[in-house]
Amino acid sequence: MSDVRRDTFHRYFGHSATVFAEAPGRVNLIGEHTDYNGGFVLPTAIPQRTHAELALRSDSKVRILSHDIGPNGEEHDYMLGDERPLHRWFDYVAGITWLLRERGYAIRGFDLRVSTDIPMGAGLSSSASLLVTVLRALRQAFDLPLNDVDLALMSQSVENGFVGAHVGIMDQMAASLADSGTALFLDTRSLEYRKIMIPDDIDMFIINSGVRHSHADGGYNTRRMECEEACSHLGVKELRDVQDINLTYAIGEPFGSRARHVISENARVLKAVDAISRGSMEELGRLMIESHASMRDNFKVSVPEIDFLVEASLAHPEVYGARLTGGGFGGSIVGICRKGHGKRLANLIADRYQSQTSHHASILVP
Ligand code: GLA
Repeated sequence: MSDVRRDTFHRYFGHSATVFAEAPGRVNLIGEHTDYNGGFVLPTAIPQRTHAELALRSDSKVRILSHDIGPNGEEHDYMLGDERPLHRWFDYVAGITWLLRERGYAIRGFDLRVSTDIPMGAGLSSSASLLVTVLRALRQAFDLPLNDVDLALMSQSVENGFVGAHVGIMDQMAASLADSGTALFLDTRSLEYRKIMIPDDIDMFIINSGVRHSHADGGYNTRRMECEEACSHLGVKELRDVQDINLTYAIGEPFGSRARHVISENARVLKAVDAISRGSMEELGRLMIESHASMRDNFKVSVPEIDFLVEASLAHPEVYGARLTGGGFGGSIVGICRKGHGKRLANLIADRYQSQTSHHASILVP
């Protein structure tokens, strides 16, 4: 924790923080829109993180401050028991205190400062990272008997029940459990997970397109409903349970295409885990390319800017594969390439993007 950070808390609240917590953002290597269909995902933590500093109060007031979340940085306060969604970033904090109270945890007011270097709306789970960070701080402050999976599940309940984004469990599990040297191979139905070493003979690159998305608006929730509708046509509880992909051709559009993406994507995650264990980066790359095509053509969650970044990446022979990562409708791409080329290639790809679109691309990794 830097001195500058501690000084800011003290200057604003007039006393010092006593609890410190943090959690990373995530990038998903493969397995997109599978988590709310009972399927498999393979995210890993990114170096960008959210930090929280907190001090308990003796009353029921919650005061929140951030200089880098929200348009120009801002503050907000409310009384416990008075939580309401205001469609602003601090809903995530209010949603947590709402949920803790709903579940009968005895909490009182607190002063909280949060800061992050995870860009918002970039498909890198800034919100899951914020939720897990604040829950970690409150777990410590109130000595709550919650494990890391509980924190992930509670973060998801806040998104679903308070913020109104009907997201799956991948991002919260990644923020709570993932680290950056391994990929978190997660079965989202059983919540069983295994950490898989990311081979060290590749570079990963992550580029933010600068086209922002929000999962509380239309597109994401619509895809989720389309998957539910596909399930009812196919007579299964979750798309994970469909054995024969050919059945999807009989259920009409767009449900058939949506289901085909999910079913094939689940299979790709399993193949990707196998490819990593065999050290076959060509195969992993090929699966990422297929995943992108399926998200673009079947699931229809890509946008031209993201397609441009993926194609610009694949133009380089050192790149094994690249794809849209996260929920889509904007956000970031993730790619893998031969070791030692990541930085140079990411710069070339970002420069080309900027010269041909009106957006600024930012390189998050390497
Ligand atoms: C968002 C959601 C996740 C997941 C991805 C798509 O990141 O928060 O639950 O559905 O989109 O894979």
